[in-house]
Amino acid sequence: MSGIYRSRVAGTGSYLPEGVITNFDIEKMVETNNQWIIERTGIERRHKAAPHEACSDLCYEASIKALKDAGLTAQDLDLIIVSTVSGDQVMPSTACVLQHRLGARHIMAFDLSAACSGFVYGLSVADQFIRTGMYKNILVVGGEVLHRLVNYKDRETCILFGDAAGAWIVSRAEANDPNTIMSSHLHADGGLGDLFVLPGGGSRMPFSQEVLDSGNHYVKMKGREIFKNAVRTLTQCCHEALAANNVKSHEVDWLVPHQANVRILESVAEYFEFPKEKVIFSLQETGNTSAASIPVAFDLAVQEKKIQRGQLILLAAFGAGLTSGSVLLRF
Ligand code: UT7
Repeated sequence: MSGIYRSRVAGTGSYLPEGVITNFDIEKMVETNNQWIIERTGIERRHKAAPHEACSDLCYEASIKALKDAGLTAQDLDLIIVSTVSGDQVMPSTACVLQHRLGARHIMAFDLSAACSGFVYGLSVADQFIRTGMYKNILVVGGEVLHRLVNYKDRETCILFGDAAGAWIVSRAEANDPNTIMSSHLHADGGLGDLFVLPGGGSRMPFSQEVLDSGNHYVKMKGREIFKNAVRTLTQCCHEALAANNVKSHEVDWLVPHQANVRILESVAEYFEFPKEKVIFSLQETGNTSAASIPVAFDLAVQEKKIQRGQLILLAAFGAGLTSGSVLLRF
């Protein structure tokens, strides 16, 4: 990949709201049970934003931690990207709300919509702005309050999703710094968009009493189809990243995939011929947090001292759209 400069991950942070929805809580809402959910998804609990918390509040907490980790202040930022499908409102963007709350300068700020692939899309955009020399310090956040988009009468979706935010500071690297973002590869297949949708509230199906009565303000998913596509696409993304960089899979220290379903991730590890022990799993604690899933899983693994500076990390994402992508980086 070309460009004058390279990007590095200068700091990371994450935020999980205090509230928790356990499988036992869900047992009381729909016909399911703890054992089924653990066996079929790997998820034990998900976090839930408090009634006063919106997406930007979660993003703020994660961003403050990432800035501190990078040794920067909000004044140092040149760009803010918030990847989300559950922003505070349709407009203004959550990134603009966050910019003001952080006390950043009047820098460019925008939301990015790529569902669960949002964070790798955001990283790739940030990397391009660094490579051209236009910006030096970029805040990329994945933040979601998904529990407000989920129907707690639909047992296929309500078991999966949770709330969280994860933030990275992406900065211009020194010329001799070996720890940089090496590549990003992004894809979308709009023809498979109907596998995972939130139909109501847009210009095609504006809000009305009918939308509310029919539950079209909640996510709708064809789980089994998503599952198959996720395994295939994530595996392809992993192979693509390694081939483009002439890297062998044994050289990768950690695979940080989108935390969708433990069985999806185990199948990807199998098809990618990658040891399961080197795959980061956090979904037992967080569920699927869409755009927040990769930066949160990454940051938790940094806190646990699993992921360390200098290691080679492969991020792989898949989500509604259908979108997908990878980022290979040396941390
Ligand atoms: O970021 C991407 C977002 N989406 C995803 O990652 C979703 C990917 N898909 C999945 O994770 C899985 O497909 C699910 C967890 C949603 C479902 O698991 P599955 O093993 O694919 O189940 P299934 O759809 O094949 O259904 C098997 C059975 C069905 O009953 P019958 O028809 O065999 O009698 C379902 O009705 O399991 C039933 N079922 C449940 N039973 C207990 C579906 N959901 C539940 C539930 N509890 N929560």
